[in-house]
Amino acid sequence: MESGAPFLVVDDLTVKFPTADGLVQAVTGLSYQVELGKTLGIVGESGSGKSVSSMAVLGLHDARSAQIQGSIRVGGTEVVGLSESKMRSLRGNQVAMIFQDALAALHPFYKVGKQLGEAYLVHHPQATKREARQRAIEMLDRVGIPQPDRRVDQFPHQYSGGMRQRAMIAMGLINDPSLLIADEPTTALDVTVQAQILDLLQDLQSEFNSAIVIITHDLGVVAEMADDVLVMYGGRAVEYGPCRDILVHPEMPYTWGLLSSVPDVTADTSARMIPIPGNPPSLLEPPTGCAFHPRCVHRDKVPGDLCTTTLPELLPGVRGANHVKRCHLADPDTIYATEVLPEIAPDLAEELR
Ligand SMILES: Nc1ncnc2c1ncn2[C@@H]1O[C@H](COP(=O)(O)OP(=O)(O)OP(=O)(O)O)[C@@H](O)[C@H]1O
Ligand code: SF4
Ligand SMILES: [Mg+2]
Repeated sequence: MESGAPFLVVDDLTVKFPTADGLVQAVTGLSYQVELGKTLGIVGESGSGKSVSSMAVLGLHDARSAQIQGSIRVGGTEVVGLSESKMRSLRGNQVAMIFQDALAALHPFYKVGKQLGEAYLVHHPQATKREARQRAIEMLDRVGIPQPDRRVDQFPHQYSGGMRQRAMIAMGLINDPSLLIADEPTTALDVTVQAQILDLLQDLQSEFNSAIVIITHDLGVVAEMADDVLVMYGGRAVEYGPCRDILVHPEMPYTWGLLSSVPDVTADTSARMIPIPGNPPSLLEPPTGCAFHPRCVHRDKVPGDLCTTTLPELLPGVRGANHVKRCHLADPDTIYATEVLPEIAPDLAEELR
């Protein structure tokens, strides 16, 4: 596939979990796409459906406990309803996922090199053990592990946290996947290692032209990495579009809240951190209307009781069709520039005036 072709197309995806307490509506009507060579950042608070939707892309949900509807195409192959054996051959080969917790992804009893080699052999049954070991060393080297020919024979606990994360990335990339999903890949790491890992992902992407989905709480990470951004709230997309557009001209009050709680992202030295009040919505009994309404301080600007009664559709914003948002506000651009930005980043607001 050429650069520019959407490699991952998620269309109207819904994931529900029947539980003793009722139906958990983890993801509802979610659509997005990612081209080869591009990065999508998915942001949203805890429980917004970021991991559940991404795990569906890798076919990681148990059909007995998850109800999945809609379509997910990976390189043209429909993943929803795909048999486990076909899914296995896609996973690790065309699509790989790296997780927040490298310790959970690496088996403590096996040497790192053996685990990497196994991941290679699954998709290269013709290869010898020696070739797999050589490939493991090469990948450890690629992700910046010093003395890879010695480190390959060590156990995960002999690696530092940053090195384990690198080893997991090496495992994810060992078969040159076209799509890499990174679920909070740097959250557990200190800031310096975090920056190194993000650089590494970017280098590897430019080399392999892979599509990347990076899931994070941190809009700073998104600003650095992503071409497009998807903001999720209560299992739904609430704002989606080009990264720069969303960071500079966000149109949905929830996105404003996320931006307000990450001062660096505006590059304003006088920026203030203002956490979003209240809690994420229940997915068992989601609020009526706009799911963000119980926490939204701008809903009085919408006429009548629309916010509490009517779910806003995901519609193009004021700046073009490829920036969509789910909100009833008629003039979000002005509200952001005149009310929100002066609160969170006075210098920047002054500059734009
Ligand atoms: N197997 C399951 N059974 C029931 N509910 C589930 C199951 N898996 C996830 N959920 C629920 O689905 C919702 C979405 O979870 P998800 O893990 O996608 O959130 P997230 O956005 O990744 O959050 P975080 O930032 O904390 O990782 C949560 O409310 C979670 O409790
Ligand atoms: S639809 Fe209403 S409640 Fe929802 S974000 Fe917009 S203004 Fe706030
Ligand atoms: Mg998650």
